[in-house]
Amino acid sequence: MNILVIGGAGYIGSHIVYELNDAGHQVTILDNFSTGLRENVDARATLVEGDMQDLTLLDRLLDGEASGSAGTFDSVIHFAALKAAGESMEKPERYTRANLIATMNLLNLMMRHGIKNFVFSSSAATYGSPEYLPIDEKHPQKPINYYGYTKLVIEQTMEWYSRLKGLRYAALRYFNAAGYDVQGRITGKEQNPANLLPIVMEVAAGSRPKMQVFGSDYPTRDGTCIRDYIHVNDLATAHVKAMEYLASENRDLTLNLATGEGYTVLEVIKEAERVCGRPIPHDITDRRPGDPAELVAASGQARETIGWKARHSDLKQLVESMWNVYK
Ligand code: UFG
Repeated sequence: MNILVIGGAGYIGSHIVYELNDAGHQVTILDNFSTGLRENVDARATLVEGDMQDLTLLDRLLDGEASGSAGTFDSVIHFAALKAAGESMEKPERYTRANLIATMNLLNLMMRHGIKNFVFSSSAATYGSPEYLPIDEKHPQKPINYYGYTKLVIEQTMEWYSRLKGLRYAALRYFNAAGYDVQGRITGKEQNPANLLPIVMEVAAGSRPKMQVFGSDYPTRDGTCIRDYIHVNDLATAHVKAMEYLASENRDLTLNLATGEGYTVLEVIKEAERVCGRPIPHDITDRRPGDPAELVAASGQARETIGWKARHSDLKQLVESMWNVYK
């Protein structure tokens, strides 16, 4: 298939581009390199440098003109978004612009050009604080941070467009994405990370003297937040399967992508100390606004519908794949 990957030079997008090329698809990347890295771009893909918020460019691209490939796209996969839940509580306007407005414009242009298949990076952050665990796809969606709200609004828009315009969408609700390509093909590190694991790695590698653990008074086994960490290579296989499902089954998909296994912040730090063979200095500080105590998924629906299961997301393997890049 002929696929447009928006944000294909970014942390998650670059892993999916490799997987799509490995599966024999024809890939065009649109990326503005605001956080994406040239060194992570798979040379097999066609690269268009530009901003998805440049609607003239996006219009031409979806028309097939600027893509360098024949005709337009069978499917669009969209990664170009902001993703720091904590930051979204301080700078919501950035998230309105980059996540909401940009995606709404994209959907409208896709409809104009008759492109019906859309794989969207949604998030566990759409659920908010769990009412029960593990969280399945039917769990109420009541986000407690603005980031999660932006993802929820897009999910709801996709549902309407499915009914009104024949959009076929996959809303993939990632839990906590981490890890680096197990084949070692992607080695460019995220700059100024806000997520736990890259920060732990920067401390282990010595580029950051110490880190903070945000809160130790949560109702969890050691007082720190529990998250369900999922390896990016596993996310990558799920995207390819979801995209192929949309094309072959002609039905929408909403899936959790996770392992069903949760780890506390302190457990993650301890595992990293074991893998890296060095201490990871950390201070316990106040809670970060917008953090639910525990996010752990039921991931059976992905297995049943698209035959997907995490294979690289064991915490040790996940940390090792990151340490290979950061050491
Ligand atoms: N944390 C720290 N110190 C840090 C960074 C994070 O203690 O320096 C803690 C956080 O407070 C949280 C946990 O580590 O308890 C995980 O935090 P992340 O920032 O890594 O991830 P979040 O759970 O906030 O959010 C991530 C992604 C979102 C996604 C969500 C889904 O950033 O895009 O997982 O679960 F929606």
